[in-house]
Amino acid sequence: MTAPAQTMRFRDLLAQHLGWTFADSDGPQLADLLRDRAAEHSMKREDYLTRLGARRWEPELSELVERLSITETYFFRHGEQFAALREDALPERATVRSAQRALRMLSVACSSGDEAYSLAITAREVRSDPDWIINVIGLDANPAMLSKAESAWYSAWALRETPDLVRRCWFRPDDGGFRVVDEIRRLVHFQRGNVAEHGDGLWRPEQYDVIFCRNLLMYLTPEVANSLVRRMTDALAPGGFLFLGHTDSLGSDPAGLELRHSHKTFYYRRTGGPPPVQRAASPADTAARPTPESPAAAPADEDPYGKALDLLRLERFADALDLVGASRGGARNRLLRGVLLAQTGRLDEAVALARRLSDENGLNPDAHQLLGLCLEEGSAVAEAVGQYRLAAYLDPGFALPRLRLGQLARRQGDDRAAAGELERALDLLVREDEERIALFGGGFGRLALTVVCRSELDACGVRRP
Ligand SMILES: C[S@@+](CC[C@H](N)C(=O)[O-])C[C@H]1O[C@@H](n2cnc3c(N)ncnc32)[C@H](O)[C@@H]1O
Repeated sequence: MTAPAQTMRFRDLLAQHLGWTFADSDGPQLADLLRDRAAEHSMKREDYLTRLGARRWEPELSELVERLSITETYFFRHGEQFAALREDALPERATVRSAQRALRMLSVACSSGDEAYSLAITAREVRSDPDWIINVIGLDANPAMLSKAESAWYSAWALRETPDLVRRCWFRPDDGGFRVVDEIRRLVHFQRGNVAEHGDGLWRPEQYDVIFCRNLLMYLTPEVANSLVRRMTDALAPGGFLFLGHTDSLGSDPAGLELRHSHKTFYYRRTGGPPPVQRAASPADTAARPTPESPAAAPADEDPYGKALDLLRLERFADALDLVGASRGGARNRLLRGVLLAQTGRLDEAVALARRLSDENGLNPDAHQLLGLCLEEGSAVAEAVGQYRLAAYLDPGFALPRLRLGQLARRQGDDRAAAGELERALDLLVREDEERIALFGGGFGRLALTVVCRSELDACGVRRP
């Protein structure tokens, strides 16, 4: 088999085992991964592919999931969906369940558990009487993410959209971050599972009040995505609710589901069950009805930050800069503006903005990372190294400063120091935040950054699986 045919076979096997679909541009990264995995097992690529296709190879599949899956998530992501959950879906389900006094929810593709705990917190706030049984299952195929979820420990970054009051109530400061309180942890159980397989108990018909499945369908082949949507629809109790990601589309008339619109977002209610509770219109219910092509997308002008971030990903820096406007707004907006200024060559302005951000909050790792990148670009390498060190120190989970430190150390011929930083970066990249990758990854995605990291390590004479 030729090398391209081997990569294609690898791609087909990933689709078969995990339901994943890849863009043609992912080919080189898949080819590198295939080379590395075959080498790890001391196999020829052809033999590795035969083994992967022949029978279940669970440890290897776990390894591939950990290497390839995008795991970006955070608490109360897309707050408008949680507002709809809190004010519309859960009160309606609690009325229906008033005899059983139980609410069951499922977070499909829960990653590190942020979404599953956010569901439990919201339900506990809606039904605070401990007499109510609240049960949330978090499902994911990625063992590393599930062990993070079990630990229930998160950095402040994961709580960036969590209101202060919620943080004070349901988290306790621990080891430089926050741990979910036991009262909520007891409500949530995590389960390893692959949505490309049908499983059993998890998908029993009519059992859940709410299912969240966000930011997964877009990575799946149409067949696996359709089958999963059918399974989720059946597993919802009549009148139960399905929340999908903003970019996931089911069209306007999916089988067994009706589209519901409130709180400037869209979600689905399984048809049947008691008639929907009449709810007073919320002032937030103002967005237009979705088209089948973009059912759940919030109008772009309502989220200039998200739109600007997308434009950054597309390397349309000037357009993105227009959207984020002058140096007003919150720290997040200004950070993005700083990145865009740097990308458009306005280095002095970017440095000034980054310095202002770090003056305002010396503990902001992103401001130091931005400052480091600007200083490095301006050839002030020693100062840049100091800024990267600060960024890495302030957030020990931040992979990108480690990567820069490793690359700079290698350029200076210090392979030993480089290897230490790059090894750390490689471990952390699996969990690096998507937004940070967009901001600081220099146009590379997670996979490409991982490849860069590995080849730098190879160049230092360190081979990693
Ligand atoms: C981007 S995260 C979504 C996290 C969360 N739902 C959110 O929207 O914030 C996608 C998750 O899907 C998981 N995943 C990918 N393929 C899967 C599969 N075949 N079965 C189960 N989980 C899968 C990955 O491990 C990853 O944690």
